[in-house]
Amino acid sequence: MKRFLKVEDIGDLKKALQDAVEVKQNPYAFQELGKNKTIILVFFNSSLRTRLSTQKAAMNMGMNVMVLDINKDGWKLETEMGVVMDSDKPEHIKEAVPVIGQYCDMIGVRSFATFENKEDDYTEKVINQFIQYSGVPVISLESATRHPLQAFADLITIEEHKSKARPKVVLTWAPHPRALPQAVANSFAEWMKEADVEFVITHPKGYELAEEFTAGVEVEYDQRKAFEGADFIYAKNWSSFKQYGQVISQDKDWTVDEEKMALTNQAKFMHCLPVRRNMIVSDGVIESENSLVVQEAANRVVSAQTVIKRILESL
Ligand code: CP
Repeated sequence: MKRFLKVEDIGDLKKALQDAVEVKQNPYAFQELGKNKTIILVFFNSSLRTRLSTQKAAMNMGMNVMVLDINKDGWKLETEMGVVMDSDKPEHIKEAVPVIGQYCDMIGVRSFATFENKEDDYTEKVINQFIQYSGVPVISLESATRHPLQAFADLITIEEHKSKARPKVVLTWAPHPRALPQAVANSFAEWMKEADVEFVITHPKGYELAEEFTAGVEVEYDQRKAFEGADFIYAKNWSSFKQYGQVISQDKDWTVDEEKMALTNQAKFMHCLPVRRNMIVSDGVIESENSLVVQEAANRVVSAQTVIKRILESL
């Protein structure tokens, strides 16, 4: 594997899930693969889980790990081509990225959507420059349009907790005070489409995700109807794709609470975290025994380690 940005990069999902089980059962069994190999994790945005779980995964593989918070520790990077560099950005990404590539065997990059330009975000301008100029494999730690390590961890969690062969999984929009990227929801949809689940998305009108992620997926605008018989409720906020980056509703009637969870088939509750309590989900639901948010975060180590192992095997 030379890169990990989207579901198709992992290949056969059943095989990937088998690999994840193996990694989870024996996390330290593959350290020879990572010996004297280095991963650099570059963050343009904040992180708790992605940073720590990917470091832990790489250390489990016996690797050296370096972390660069580009906004705090590095030179501010110019990402536009052909510009006169007379602004506050002293280093160009075309030099910085190949230099980073000299110090490591693979790079992880987190670079969120900026909402300044839909085309730049949806053509993955920043992470694609890492692929083009680094000379080493690149792992997405959440790009402008996708969060694949999260979606892989989510699928691992669903596999571990499902009580029927083909569970009903509902992705529900929920309110939030700020404009958030669509990346988590896009990736979750992309991975659930490939998984053996009955998948439904529910959101208010105007929050339709990009067609490339949702083609063929059932969208139910009545949240209560969507919840009926669900085995997993996956809550997430995202801003509008059509009115790009806009918050067009903060309707608290979409908050996931006990009354709505009672409509489900005793569904497990999932969220990628961080989560705004009593906006996205009530205290009662997130603290209930059906909440999987901590188990889901724990599986971020497993998804990252499975991906890193595949890349090390291909070096
Ligand atoms: N879920 C997730 O990616 O968490 P962080 O933003 O804390 O890394």
